[in-house]
Amino acid sequence: MEVIITQDYDAMSERGAQIVIDALRNRPDIVLGLATGSTPEGIYERLVAAHRNDGLDFSQAVTFNLDEYVGLGPDHDQSYRSFMNAKLFNHVNVDVARTHVPDGLAVDPAAHCAQYERMIRQAGGIDLQVLGIGRDGHIAFNEPGTSLGSRTHVACLTRQTVEDNARFFDDAAQVPRFAITMGIGTILEARTCLLLACGANKAPAVRAALEGPITSMTTASALQLHPDTTAIVDEAAAAELELLDYYRWQQENRLA
Ligand code: PGA
Repeated sequence: MEVIITQDYDAMSERGAQIVIDALRNRPDIVLGLATGSTPEGIYERLVAAHRNDGLDFSQAVTFNLDEYVGLGPDHDQSYRSFMNAKLFNHVNVDVARTHVPDGLAVDPAAHCAQYERMIRQAGGIDLQVLGIGRDGHIAFNEPGTSLGSRTHVACLTRQTVEDNARFFDDAAQVPRFAITMGIGTILEARTCLLLACGANKAPAVRAALEGPITSMTTASALQLHPDTTAIVDEAAAAELELLDYYRWQQENRLA
């Protein structure tokens, strides 16, 4: 795994956005895996700016989001579909029919999960998957204890995740307890993964994910098995990394 330490959130977003922009320019029909949450917002702002100012073209891109709350429809202001529309899709020339977010209102969620997997396969698989990380080390909504071979499934959120996400709702009681989420097995099939983390409250999770044992107790640790993952971590989130000096050393000593 390549680990890039940046000074702060803005620098993390800048590096992350540049990777997505380069990938999209190299491959206009790229299949992007997208994430919600506070972490990738800075990347989406930069993608919108690159579209407005430099003509970054999303017209052939296909997107698959990691997850969606069960029970929230696209019109709910806290649904992840609505987040993606507001932060990215409404501001670039992506074809909405090519954007996919799991359907939180699916009548048969299990069948919908299987269909989501099929759609990813039919699109040719995900080329570049953007990921945040939860304080409990989750990626997407793969909470501790989730099989590292899991596919898209319905997950019960932990109490901590519900509390973390309560900031977006009027109160914690309104946060859905279930979500449809890509599994760890699904995520590991992406050709490239981009893990983003910022802030001191993520430092223990980052340490466990990057340097701890590979374990379902920290589902992000499965990325250690992935052949092409870049982690972009700001100073605060990197503070507990044992190999911090080595990551910096590697950044200074790039093979030309
Ligand atoms: P955050 O969430 O980006 O809002 O911190 C990350 C996550 O829970 O995956």
